[in-house]
This record gives sequence, C-alpha cells and structure tokens, in this order.
Amino acid sequence: MKNSFANQDILCGLDIGTTKIAAIVALPNPGGEPQLLGMGYVPSRGLRRGVVVNLEQTAADIAEAISLAQQNAGVEIDMVWAGIAGEHVKSLNSRGVIPITRWRGEQTGEVTPGDVDKVVEAARTILLPPDRRVLHVLPQEYMVDSEGGIRMPVGMAGVRLEADVHIVHCAVSSAQNIIACCKRAGVAVQDLILEPLASAESVLTEDERELGVILLDFGGGTTDLAAFQGSAIRHTAVIGYGGDYITRDIAMGLRTPMESAEQIKIEHGAAHLRAINQNDFLEIPGIGGREPRELSRSMLVSIIGPRVEEIFTVAREDLKKTRVLDHIGAGVVLTGGGASMCGMAEIAEEIFALPVRIGAPHDNMANYDLGLGPKFATAVGLVRHANRQYNEMLSSGRNAESWTARTSTKVRKWFSEIF
Ligand SMILES: Nc1ncnc2c1ncn2[C@@H]1O[C@H](COP(=O)(O)OP(=O)(O)OP(=O)(O)O)[C@@H](O)[C@H]1O
Ligand SMILES: [Mg+2]
Repeated sequence: MKNSFANQDILCGLDIGTTKIAAIVALPNPGGEPQLLGMGYVPSRGLRRGVVVNLEQTAADIAEAISLAQQNAGVEIDMVWAGIAGEHVKSLNSRGVIPITRWRGEQTGEVTPGDVDKVVEAARTILLPPDRRVLHVLPQEYMVDSEGGIRMPVGMAGVRLEADVHIVHCAVSSAQNIIACCKRAGVAVQDLILEPLASAESVLTEDERELGVILLDFGGGTTDLAAFQGSAIRHTAVIGYGGDYITRDIAMGLRTPMESAEQIKIEHGAAHLRAINQNDFLEIPGIGGREPRELSRSMLVSIIGPRVEEIFTVAREDLKKTRVLDHIGAGVVLTGGGASMCGMAEIAEEIFALPVRIGAPHDNMANYDLGLGPKFATAVGLVRHANRQYNEMLSSGRNAESWTARTSTKVRKWFSEIF
C-alpha cells in the first residue's frame, strides 16, 4: 500500500559503496530525527576503491536497491541524497575576510546574515583546476575584529569579519558518473555528500565533536576519515584501501578463492591476538577436491593484523600533516563494515594511542528496528543530512517544492553537461 506522503517529502539516503549499495528511506521530521520507513541493499559490482568504473552495472545495482527500498517502505522514491568518496576527493582549510557592513556615518557595523554569506563566499574562493569542483564549504569558526572562536557572528559589532572554512573538492568526472548512474536508475540526485561526513552524522555524539574526535569508516574499497574539534570539521580524507585488501591477503595467504576468503574473514577474522582465544582452530574447505585443512585463528590474525595496521598508519600519518591529532579529547570512532571485525578497536588503540569505540547508527532514528550495523553508517547519515536540510528549509520559510527545485539546481549547475 502506498503511503499518502508526497514524493518530495520522502528522504532517501543512497550509499553507493564498493561492496554494497544501500538505500534508506525516511520521512522528514521537523525538529527531530527522520522517521525510518524502510531500506533496500544489494551487492555492488561496478565500483573500485570507492569510484564508479562500470556505469551500466552500477546503474542496474542502484535500480535494484531502490526497488527493494520502495517495496520495503511502501513509497515511491524519485530523489536521493547520494554519497561520494574515492581518492580523488581532497580537502583544505581556507580563510576569508570582509569589512562588516556599516550604518551610514557609524564607525562600526553589526554582522548581518548577508555578511556571513559574503565572508564564506570569500573563503571559498580558491583556484581549482577545471576538472575539479567544490563539493562542500563547511564553516569552522568566525572572527570579529580580534575576537575569535565565534560560531554565530550575526548581530556582533565590529569592522572586520573573518571566516575559517573547510573546503572539500572532487573530480568532476567521478561526481558526474554517480549522477549519471542515478539518472539511469530512475532517480534524481538531490545532493552529493562526502561519505565520511555522512557517517559522522550517524555515529558521532555532539560531545565527541566538541572534545575532538576522529571518525574512521573502514569500508570495502576505501577507508574514509573525518576529524572534528570544537564542534567543527577540521580534516577529511579518503584512503584507497579497505576490507577488500584483507580478503585478497587471506585468499593469497591461504591459497583459497576470494569468495571463501571473504567468508573466512567474516566468520572468523580478527585483527588482534588480544581479541581471540589463541587455541581456536577453524576448518578451511579444500579446493579442487582437496581435503579440508585446519588453521589456527592466530595464523589468520597474522595475515589480517599487518594490513589493518598499515591502513590505520596511513590514516594516522595523514592526520599528522594537519595539527588535529594534538586536539583529540574524545578518541577514535570506528565504523563501516570493517569495524565489525573483532580486534579492530584494539589495533586502532595501539596505532592512534587514543581510546577507540565502534560506532553504529543505533538509536539515532525514530522507528529504529532494522538492526543497522556499522556498514549502514553512511546510508543512515545521508538520511539524517537530508532531514537537516529539510528542517533548514522549513525554518527559512521556503516550501518543500521550491526547496527541492533549489538544491537540484545546485547539482544541475555543477554538472550541466549531463542534464
Ligand atoms: N563481520 C565482519 N568481519 C570482517 N569484515 C567485515 C564484516 N562485515 C563486513 N565486513 C567487511 O566490510 C567491508 C564492507 O564494508 P562497507 O559495507 O562499509 O563497505 P562499502 O561502503 O560498500 O565500501 P566503501 O565505503 O569502501 O566504498 C567488506 O570488506 C566486508 O568484508
Ligand atoms: Mg562505505
């Protein structure tokens, strides 16, 4: 039975991952959490390391995930909030400065919402090659004259307004491919959101963001990171390695096909000796009529551990380039499918020398009854992001119709060539 809500009121987060494509459908909830209606997900076959490499296949997979979500939720989906990742995504911090608008004859002025827009615009003015576009401009803090650390500068008196922003930019072609795949699958992209930002939205608490936290989304093809401090985003990055590398290592190390390596990893995999009973043994099915073999679980740890350590070390070195590691009061939150493997938190604690917890999008949504584990962090985060945009639209007095038209125009403007 169809729901009685208009399609424009349906929010759909679409996580186009390297391993799976997940669509989560919800109703917007003014002032609260989106109300989950249902979901659909299928294996992903057209991506490599977070980037679409086979358009036809990805479009078919998206169409299938959307169709399952529609059946499950009992609503039609024609618009999605899609995630984007891949090593082509880069970020930097930038600063903009403007004079504050003054009243005639006055020495100082009061910061207006227009001034805030202008200073953010000034901060986003960076030179990018023609094949790259700005994906996000995320204000961190403002400064009025010599007063820093301001979050809401509107109404403050002064002569000079500065803004620190975090800018995320990406390859136009990769973003175009996502939009094109969605279009072929019969859905329009309302907005494109960097995947670790979406994951952060579903698993981090306000306190963690305030104290300083590193989010690591350990996926199949990429490991995405986002660092927050003082409730503002400080750093984002996408590393082109993930759980698929571990599966490949197991397949090579045990001379077993990828499929059975993946199964062994999911059922028995562990990243740290502290997380297992070292007397545990498992049986590996023989290939080509050979006898099954016995394997100690600690042997599996010796294959998986070094790869996880390597990926976490790359993340740590990337974070070291920014100064954010010195200001992490809350620790590390691990999410993504890889976070389900035992021993991940133990190894992350050693590499980052910080407390670590596993984050799943639990209890964050009304009507939560689907058992959404860490691999759904991005999809849930996309829906929460969509709900926040919806609430912002309501509080700005626009109606939903003009709102959807407006953000579609944003995506359309970037990628006019394919519309
Ligand atoms: N219980 C588990 N133990 C170990 N690994 C697991 C477990 N569950 C899932 N994984 C691994 O997590 C990875 C998939 O995670 P996820 O679904 O977050 O990736 P994705 O979003 O599709 O990919 P990406 O974000 O990298 O594009 C796979 O490598 C899978 O083997
Ligand atoms: Mg992912």
